[in-house]
Amino acid sequence: MIRTVPPADETLWASLPVPALLIGPGGLIEAVNPAAEVFLNHSARSMAGAPVDERLFIDAPLDEAFARVRASRAAVFLNDVHVGTGEKAPVQCNVQIGPLADDPGRLLLMIEARDIADRLGRAQSVKRAAKSAIGMSEMLAHEIKNPLAGITGAAQLLSMGLKGDDLELTELIVAESRRIVKLLEQVEQFGNLRPPECRAVNVHDVLDRARRSAAVGFAAHMHIREDYDPSLPPAWADRDQLLQVFLNLLKNAAEAAGPGGGTLHLRTFYDHALRLRDGDGPGHALPLQVEIIDDGPGLPPDLAADVFEPFVSGRENGTGLGLALVSKIISDHAGWIAVESVPGRTVFRVSLPRVPKDTATDRESG
Ligand SMILES: Nc1ncnc2c1ncn2[C@@H]1O[C@H](COP(=O)(O)OP(=O)(O)OP(=O)(O)O)[C@@H](O)[C@H]1O
Ligand SMILES: [Mg+2]
Repeated sequence: MIRTVPPADETLWASLPVPALLIGPGGLIEAVNPAAEVFLNHSARSMAGAPVDERLFIDAPLDEAFARVRASRAAVFLNDVHVGTGEKAPVQCNVQIGPLADDPGRLLLMIEARDIADRLGRAQSVKRAAKSAIGMSEMLAHEIKNPLAGITGAAQLLSMGLKGDDLELTELIVAESRRIVKLLEQVEQFGNLRPPECRAVNVHDVLDRARRSAAVGFAAHMHIREDYDPSLPPAWADRDQLLQVFLNLLKNAAEAAGPGGGTLHLRTFYDHALRLRDGDGPGHALPLQVEIIDDGPGLPPDLAADVFEPFVSGRENGTGLGLALVSKIISDHAGWIAVESVPGRTVFRVSLPRVPKDTATDRESG
């Protein structure tokens, strides 16, 4: 029996359904709960007293994470890391490390195994469904535009001899037809999206450009705040497509805020622990983080799970293609986009790769 967990907490510790380890100040394992014994396939007795990095193999700098938790006295999350034990094959997990409330030198490390098959399977099927929906829509878009041009032209001709209510009706036909054309053009944008031409891109320059056009256009009623990490290295990205991503995100935030306005917060930072797994390999790093944060009403709860899918919109005149395009562009960059939203705070986070090592001497674009 391990005595480092106070007896009063022992039932709680033993009942915790999540694998958890208590780490002492020197990085030694002090306690291992039963869920972790099962998960790691080792008894608590055999692990207690051992340095954590000898028993637990995590493809993230644990020492640094521990130091960060101790210094900030706040929890650190390592997402999509692989956790193994040497004998046990690594499993993709989210790891959370937090300080003990009454003794911040000691840390609680919790492991949440991700259901990879489910997660990747779902992402794949969503992507496939989106792809086929878009493919079909593109075809339709093309087919509808021609007859629509005919309808618009006929309505315009008709309107010449009309007055009053009748004229209003033909104007309605023209206006609505234009709206449909605009929608179709957006659908076609998907088809025309070329593969990204990646170069070393200064993310702050692109954000700046997006901010400037937002400030004089759709976000003129918003307050814009920047919080940039000046040491952020260049991203490996297509500058124009990245600009489109930031503009779409800013536009959504400005539209969600409504005419009363609000604050748009642009934030960048580096997170070396973030990796995206591809296939069976160790995955690739996506350390550059760009967050577009707003203080608006948040995603409509009934849409929150599907906002990246095409034609999902909570706005009266929305086509629901803005975020689908964002998601397509980011996935073409082998990047990652995530959203967290509660009323008053919505965070869209874009994670991007660095410039590959062998091209690090490339001139920065633009
Ligand atoms: N920052 C945000 N705050 C609140 N809701 C948002 C935010 N961003 C997106 N949404 C919701 O997600 C929906 C989908 O966004 P998306 O950009 O894909 O489509 P849209 O803005 O409705 O139309 P489009 O961009 O094609 O003109 C929006 O309609 C809105 O309901
Ligand atoms: Mg939009």
